[in-house]
Amino acid sequence: MNHPPIVAIVGATGAVGVEFLRCLEERNFPLAELRLFASARSAGKHMTFRGQSLVVHELTEQSFSGVDIALFSAGGSLSKKFGPIAAKAGAVVIDNSSAFRMNPDVPLIVPEINPQEINNHKGIIANPNCSTIIAIVPLWPLHKINRITRIIAATYQAASGAGAAAMQELLDATKAALNGQEYPPTVLPHPYAFNVFSHNASVDLQTGYNEEEIKMVKETRKIFGDPDIRISATCVRVPVLRAHCESLTVEFMSPIQADQVRDILSHAPGVKVVDQREKNYFPMPRDASGQGDILVGRIRNDLSDPTGRSIALFVAGDQLLKGAALNAVQIAELLVAKN
Ligand code: A2P
Repeated sequence: MNHPPIVAIVGATGAVGVEFLRCLEERNFPLAELRLFASARSAGKHMTFRGQSLVVHELTEQSFSGVDIALFSAGGSLSKKFGPIAAKAGAVVIDNSSAFRMNPDVPLIVPEINPQEINNHKGIIANPNCSTIIAIVPLWPLHKINRITRIIAATYQAASGAGAAAMQELLDATKAALNGQEYPPTVLPHPYAFNVFSHNASVDLQTGYNEEEIKMVKETRKIFGDPDIRISATCVRVPVLRAHCESLTVEFMSPIQADQVRDILSHAPGVKVVDQREKNYFPMPRDASGQGDILVGRIRNDLSDPTGRSIALFVAGDQLLKGAALNAVQIAELLVAKN
């Protein structure tokens, strides 16, 4: 690629797709042409990019001719089918689904953590799960100076992680509830308005963990290059539109002080410390929405660990941005910089 790349977006009309366009535009990504793909339902729709109206095309096996970088966010089964087709046609695929993440031939990249992995791709690069990214961007700079041995996570996940239709379901179900009407859910498995429920990913009947929780375990180990970190997560949907929060209790190899953590995180890339104890002002999804940084607060020594090796944190990050589109566009930037 010794020219500005031709970039394709697969799933351009979806919740993440729209943010791909916005990130490419806002970050002034150097591209020669942007091509938009979605299902036949959206063919002929127009979307605006850099003041130009672009037509959305139906995704077909021929869509990738001449494409240098293909950003995918149209679900795992489409990635599995079209990812290899795009790579074979010469594109580098950056895939937001879970289809390839644990494949040893596929780098799983968070640019603040393992940018060097960009050199190891064979045509497909995976973008990690949103809950994983939001947890580990602030944990990495701590892990580098004092190895993390164990993480206990509880997530508070927004509708956006389940796509545009789930966001609409939250709005419609809330309106119906306020009007005293029934709203049978069609996208998510349980009533969403004024409710909280275990993540909609499938549950392993043996262990009781759901797939989202297991993604956090396996992906963190792969990205950190540390297969021994012990991790347990509880993933839950909350009636919030677009930013995830997570409570993280983290055990380190050696004793660590909350002040030291606050100091390290205040200089960490991709992180903003929001930790105003006097004002009871800490990370919130409202504040995280629309920004690329992961907000971190409630930074405190875990009182339940007498060895002084554990820290409790609360984080919030925009699932559609750093949890998806922004991270993928940052990976594309690494690709361009490499060439
Ligand atoms: P469409 O809008 O035409 O259905 P979300 O994650 O918000 O649910 O978005 C999913 C994205 O994947 C949308 O852009 C959607 O397009 C796209 N998509 C769904 N099915 C297909 C398909 N069969 N071929 C191409 N794109 C698809």
